[in-house]
Amino acid sequence: MDKKRFQADVVLLVCTRKDGVCGKKGARLRARLTEAAAAEGLKKRLRVLPTGCLDACGLGPVVLDPASQTLYYDVGKDDALDIVRKTARRHGLEP
Ligand code: FES
Repeated sequence: MDKKRFQADVVLLVCTRKDGVCGKKGARLRARLTEAAAAEGLKKRLRVLPTGCLDACGLGPVVLDPASQTLYYDVGKDDALDIVRKTARRHGLEP
């Protein structure tokens, strides 16, 4: 087995499970979070990755900050920037 350091300080996971309830909403949310991270100057430090079911079906779309065990649910269109800012503050990321 080989390994290397992952090139981000913080990761947010967005459920984009296609056959689940999150699906397209999750994919759009991931895009908005990625744009918000870039707008905050955190493009390389805060990565937004797709994932499968986060066991919060029915609450979606959902975002997990695994390092702090924070789950955002019922996330709306205008919540991306707020989530990115809260995540950055929680992990001490400076733009
Ligand atoms: S399908 Fe998204 S949390 Fe289960």
